[in-house]
Amino acid sequence: MSGNAGGADLDTLARVTGRVRANIEKVIEGKPDVVAAALVVMLAEGHLLIEDVPGVGKTQLSKALARSIDCSVRRIQFTPDLLPSDVTGVSVFNQDTREFEFRPGGVFANIVVGDEINRASPKTQSALLECMEERQVTVDNTTYLLDRPFMVIATQNPIEMEGTYALPEAQRDRFMARVSVGYPVEAAEIAMLDSHTDANPLDDLEPVTDAAEIGKLIDIVGQVHVSQAVQRYAVALTTATRRSPELHLGASPRATLHLVRAAKAVAALQGRDYVLPDDIHGLAQPVLAHRLLPSVEAAMGGRTSTAILEGIIGGVPVPEAGRA
Ligand SMILES: Nc1ncnc2c1ncn2[C@@H]1O[C@H](COP(=O)(O)OP(=O)(O)OP(=O)(O)O)[C@@H](O)[C@H]1O
Ligand SMILES: [Mg+2]
Repeated sequence: MSGNAGGADLDTLARVTGRVRANIEKVIEGKPDVVAAALVVMLAEGHLLIEDVPGVGKTQLSKALARSIDCSVRRIQFTPDLLPSDVTGVSVFNQDTREFEFRPGGVFANIVVGDEINRASPKTQSALLECMEERQVTVDNTTYLLDRPFMVIATQNPIEMEGTYALPEAQRDRFMARVSVGYPVEAAEIAMLDSHTDANPLDDLEPVTDAAEIGKLIDIVGQVHVSQAVQRYAVALTTATRRSPELHLGASPRATLHLVRAAKAVAALQGRDYVLPDDIHGLAQPVLAHRLLPSVEAAMGGRTSTAILEGIIGGVPVPEAGRA
């Protein structure tokens, strides 16, 4: 935990992310928190799950982030008949050269927008698993490395909606954070009518940074200092989820790792070279809630993961703030 993210580095980070944020907000009205969450996940090298009802701008947000960065972007529309090889790629025999050639699938890009991910079959969903965690793809015993940065932004409708397959736990665990977008406030919705009725402003959105620059920002975030006290607090939170009688499945060590990585990005975005316990506290819901499964009794009593987690967070003392 080095802790030598310099002031100049943090200034660069603020400048570039400020540009990206402003760019996205040209096409997403009144949703600064969701835009900020997307930036945190990108800088922490995580993957983002956007879950909400139809028509609130999930696809719009994913595309706006992808367009803001000059890098390779691919969109995979998940449907029940999408095949695993559409995601990963396939070896095909070339008649002329008489050799097998690899045709890369949809994940070969810096930013992969996986739209309506829970409409694909579990088999196809799981094809994404190796790619997301290991940043590589194996087809016919050959392993192909994915580019850096590599970020999956997946959108899905809530699981109770028709025609969806719930994502398996292992796959949910690979998303650093889950956010919902929510309805815009009245003024923002009216602003949307002004700017969106005739044409979608997304079509005119220009990139304001590139993959190499984002790579540098990711390195800067990596330098942010995490104290022992902050580490212990993160572990105390995830441990508490594992001990909760209301939960059938608690948070994994991967979740703890994601919590701390995301907190480093939040700290850097606030111009700090060290993580505060409050950074962890503020991220506990978006980073942990989607990984938890309520026990049968809790579920029958109408308790959601979010509500149970709220109680758990409240029960773990937040340590004193400080750099050490
Ligand atoms: N907050 C917002 N600001 C600007 N435009 C918005 C906002 N919310 C929704 N829209 C507009 O509504 C339309 C639908 O958005 P989008 O396609 O992103 O929805 P979605 O959440 O992906 O829906 P679905 O679940 O059906 O795929 C787009 O034209 C988008 O510009
Ligand atoms: Mg959509």
